[in-house]
Amino acid sequence: MKERLQALQQEAVAKINEITDDLKQLNEIRISYLGKKGPITEVLKGMGALSAEERPKIGAIANEVRTVIQEKIEQKTKAIEEAIIQKKLASEAIDVTLPGRPQFLGSKHPLTIVIEEIEDLFIGMGYEIAEGPEVESDYFNFEMLNLPKGHPARDMQDSFYITEEILLRTHTSPVQARTMVGKKNKESFKIICPGKVFRRDDDDATHSHQFTQIEGLVVGENIRMSDLKGTLEVFAKKMFGPEREIRLRPSFFPFTEPSVEMDISCMMCAGNGCKTCKHTGWIEILGAGMVHPHVLEMAGYHSKKFSGFAFGMGPDRIAMLKYGIHDIRHFYTNDIRFLSQFKPSMD
Ligand code: DAH
Repeated sequence: MKERLQALQQEAVAKINEITDDLKQLNEIRISYLGKKGPITEVLKGMGALSAEERPKIGAIANEVRTVIQEKIEQKTKAIEEAIIQKKLASEAIDVTLPGRPQFLGSKHPLTIVIEEIEDLFIGMGYEIAEGPEVESDYFNFEMLNLPKGHPARDMQDSFYITEEILLRTHTSPVQARTMVGKKNKESFKIICPGKVFRRDDDDATHSHQFTQIEGLVVGENIRMSDLKGTLEVFAKKMFGPEREIRLRPSFFPFTEPSVEMDISCMMCAGNGCKTCKHTGWIEILGAGMVHPHVLEMAGYHSKKFSGFAFGMGPDRIAMLKYGIHDIRHFYTNDIRFLSQFKPSMD
């Protein structure tokens, strides 16, 4: 019996030693040798046939064999578990000394840069920003601006009509009328209104069916043409450089009287004449004028007490001049190679 037990021990230990990484197999060995139906239990069952002297000796040997096998299995289990942990640690190791992956940072759209620059400039002069809907009524887009149905000046702004009375706004001027109507106490105010506008133009290098405008409006008591001129001069010098000069030419807009167009001295050739200014030395920047009394009255302002000036400019054109862009379509075709060139100036 003793030999049988020792042989079982040797056999079990040999099998345990053979296992390298399989915990399941190890468990199977444990069950087959130490379990109730295992060979050791089987041997112990036959102890009844032994003499009283032999029984405790064999019992002791059987217990020892059990202990040896058990310990061997435990050792092996620990070794395998440890190896699994080490393998996992090695595979999940992070090299904290590696340089970080660079994050791709987008840049602002050139029109956004220009619009924000103009907004900042006017906010600094006490203006507030006003916005209006892009889908507008004929009433606010035209009628309230002194452009009744059938007015020939409507033809200057070929429109996208949705119904007979609803259209995509052709300019940001309706925000003027909306703001004046909205002032319940009919008080003084200064606003600029940036936004998208739409016209039925065929797209080419200088035309786009969608573009941007910034409208300005000042309403108050005793607002004069000289206030308009001074404001535009400050704007031109801040936006295009302190050496810029401005020139006002008489013009016509139905919502202003008198109306003007403002030119700035060419920043490319300092007024000497070049391709950008078409050899005139001047570049047209915006339309402006004193708010027509009829426009004030229609919005509920007394034109004897209140007066105002207004102006409208195109950030697309300004951005083209500022950055030397020769095709307006670049603003709307979202080519990342074009867009990523524009970083706002940090000053
Ligand atoms: N709304 C005009 C346009 O789209 C631009 C404009 C001209 C606006 C003169 C004004 C203004 O407020 O006074 O052509």
